[in-house]
Amino acid sequence: MNDKKASNQMWGGRFASGPAAIMEAINASISFDRKLYAQDIRGSIAHSQMLAQTGIISAADQEKITHGLNTILAEIETGTFEFSTRLEDIHMNVEARLADLIGPAAGRLHTARSRNDQVAVDLRLWVKDECFRVAEALKGLITAFLDRAEEHAATVMPGFTHMQAAQPVTFGHHCMAYVEMFARDLSRVRDAIERMDESPLGAAALAGTSFPIDRHQTAKALGFREPMRNSLDSVSDRDFALEFLGLAAICATHLSRLAEEIIIWSTPQFGFVRLSDSFSTGSSIMPQKKNPDAAELVRGKTGRVTGHLVGLLTVMKGMPLTYGKDMQEDKESVFDAAETLDLMLAAMTGMVRDMTVNTAAMKKAAGAGYSTATDLADWLVRTLGLPFREAHHITGRAVALAEDKKVGLDRLSLEDLQSIHPGISADVFSVLAVQNSVKSRTSFGGTAPSEVRKQIRYWKKRLAKA
Ligand code: ARG
Repeated sequence: MNDKKASNQMWGGRFASGPAAIMEAINASISFDRKLYAQDIRGSIAHSQMLAQTGIISAADQEKITHGLNTILAEIETGTFEFSTRLEDIHMNVEARLADLIGPAAGRLHTARSRNDQVAVDLRLWVKDECFRVAEALKGLITAFLDRAEEHAATVMPGFTHMQAAQPVTFGHHCMAYVEMFARDLSRVRDAIERMDESPLGAAALAGTSFPIDRHQTAKALGFREPMRNSLDSVSDRDFALEFLGLAAICATHLSRLAEEIIIWSTPQFGFVRLSDSFSTGSSIMPQKKNPDAAELVRGKTGRVTGHLVGLLTVMKGMPLTYGKDMQEDKESVFDAAETLDLMLAAMTGMVRDMTVNTAAMKKAAGAGYSTATDLADWLVRTLGLPFREAHHITGRAVALAEDKKVGLDRLSLEDLQSIHPGISADVFSVLAVQNSVKSRTSFGGTAPSEVRKQIRYWKKRLAKA
């Protein structure tokens, strides 16, 4: 019976004024898009200058507009600006304040523009700036790895497959694998910047404008290579945000794999590295513990970054051209992913720089688990001319014998080895030692210290230009 009253009761206390308050709550973005204030003001100044130069507004009005916008910038930066939810978003908050400050001239700023191209240009500028920040952070992390690789080009450690010790490698080589991964992330950032370097400003609501604007001028003033060529695409495209989230998710995944290794390496069972106190915490109850919290948080936060990518992809998949309010949901994903990634990169760079490497523990583990078995098989092929499959079989028997005798492969006697194949000579011991195994892997990209040093030199040179 009393339907209307019942639903009002359902809306409840916080929406005291009914549907209008709910509309305001779902519609407003000012709580998060205020982050775009500097880009919004920059965009508006460039737009107003272009409007004056093309004779669409007067020079006097343009001066008032720029002066007012700069006042607003100062107000926001000193914390005296009053943001209003009623004014929905950053664009309308700034414009309303401009009207307070300079009067009717403020109303001319929005000529030949819409919030659709305005928000697109603001977010693009923000994401582009963030991409430059990520590029710098990546360079810092890569440099940290290059330094550690140089220090440990000849430090042997077990290389793993299936998390089982497989063949000995060097810690420097392992560090250089991360250099490759983060350098690919860096090149993805550069690619993304290249593609997002086009300005949507001047597309207006969606169809362009009948005013004689100069989009090339605003593009240039805002540091873009050129204007976007299609007005519909200009206001509906969020690929730049998706690409940023995509590269962020891949980079976060790399950071998470590294975090996982650091967590494993710093267990007492492995003891390969010790984290500095600045990147670990103690336990409130177990005094012996030192927990790799920062690494665990890097691993954990990866879920968030990837979640934001999936979130925005899901928002965009249902969007017909051109703009829809759904797209307002792009910002929180981008902002949180950026803040999270920046923090993850900084924490990981610190950890890599600070951690103490336990070369003795690495060396001991590198020799365990018959890690030079492949070297024995290769020796049989090289020296006795056996087919690899047969060499593999003979090596298997040598491993079984070593297991029986509870010794390492290099601790079997020559007689033991000759009982398996009479052709084996004392020369074989030169490859059974871990250090020699590593030294022998001189193929391009291999783990030999000489090769690792070559790769370090290559990346140092390349990074200077990256
Ligand atoms: N706050 C909006 C957003 O972030 C600005 C664009 C609004 N445009 C519109 N036609 N309602 O997407």
